[in-house]
Amino acid sequence: MTALLIKAPVEAPRPADLPPSPLEHWDLIGRRLGMRLLVKRDDLLPFPLSGNKVRKLGRELAARAVRPGDAVITNGGVDSNHCRTAALMGARLSLDVDLVLHTRANAVAKEQLSVRLASATGAQVHLVAPEEVGQRIDELTAVRAAAGQTVHVIPGGCHTKSGVEAYADAAAEMLGQLGTAPDAVVLASGTGATQAGLVAGLARAGCHSRVIGISVARTAARGGAAVQEALSWLDGDAETPIEFLDDFVDGGYAHASEATRETVRHAWRLGLPLDPTYTGKAFRGLTELARTGALRPNATVVFWHTGGLMNHLVE
Ligand SMILES: Cc1ncc(COP(=O)(O)O)c(C=O)c1O
Repeated sequence: MTALLIKAPVEAPRPADLPPSPLEHWDLIGRRLGMRLLVKRDDLLPFPLSGNKVRKLGRELAARAVRPGDAVITNGGVDSNHCRTAALMGARLSLDVDLVLHTRANAVAKEQLSVRLASATGAQVHLVAPEEVGQRIDELTAVRAAAGQTVHVIPGGCHTKSGVEAYADAAAEMLGQLGTAPDAVVLASGTGATQAGLVAGLARAGCHSRVIGISVARTAARGGAAVQEALSWLDGDAETPIEFLDDFVDGGYAHASEATRETVRHAWRLGLPLDPTYTGKAFRGLTELARTGALRPNATVVFWHTGGLMNHLVE
């Protein structure tokens, strides 16, 4: 047993080490929606319970050339997919991980499955009130630095240039699989880095596909500006129109309307696992866009499945 606990130096996983996620044809659902539907299964990337975060964080840690024994400090909500991924990836890379998770219900949060999973990796979980996040990150940074560790403070959601780059490459991966530009890509959009990367990657390849972000929380004005800003970190054209729709937010992050829940239930019955926080909202957006004709009949549409199954399991 002790041999297992010895921290062996390992190499940071490079994003290039990830195999492409499957691009699947979903003809039955597609026919019902009047489109040629493909699903890009980032929920099936070979890293557990992470979805889009494994591409973003893998690229970020590789860009920082993290070394065993370094400290990683990051933050998010109690059920943050990003934080769980940081915990797992950090454990694999022999990093010391501090997760600053905001909550107003410490006693409940401590028992939550995602917190228990993160703790199981050896990550230090710090439950704080939302307004204390910045201060706690500063304190932890000082403690780690005083102990002689190299400290990597990673923005919540891995909202970084590397995160955007990872999705620019993912767009190229999808184009390689499909062999042609789709008419539209539809995805759940939060901080906007994933969407910005897809926009950049498609533009780099000279494709004019629509990239339709379905907001999981933000208003169209705020979320659209965030995507635009993330795009500007790469070679993105500041004039590129961003489609960021806030019609399916359902009252805010982690709130889900009955319509979204019905979409999720229905998709599971057809073999497509969705969650009510991210992909359920996005897929409901896709079906509404098809129903209202905002996606033209027989269009080739890629639904980018960003993961988030844990958000279903922890409900
Ligand atoms: C499952 C899932 N889908 C989509 C998103 C949105 O990604 P982004 O923040 O890059 O817009 C997230 C972010 O937390 C996520 O966890």
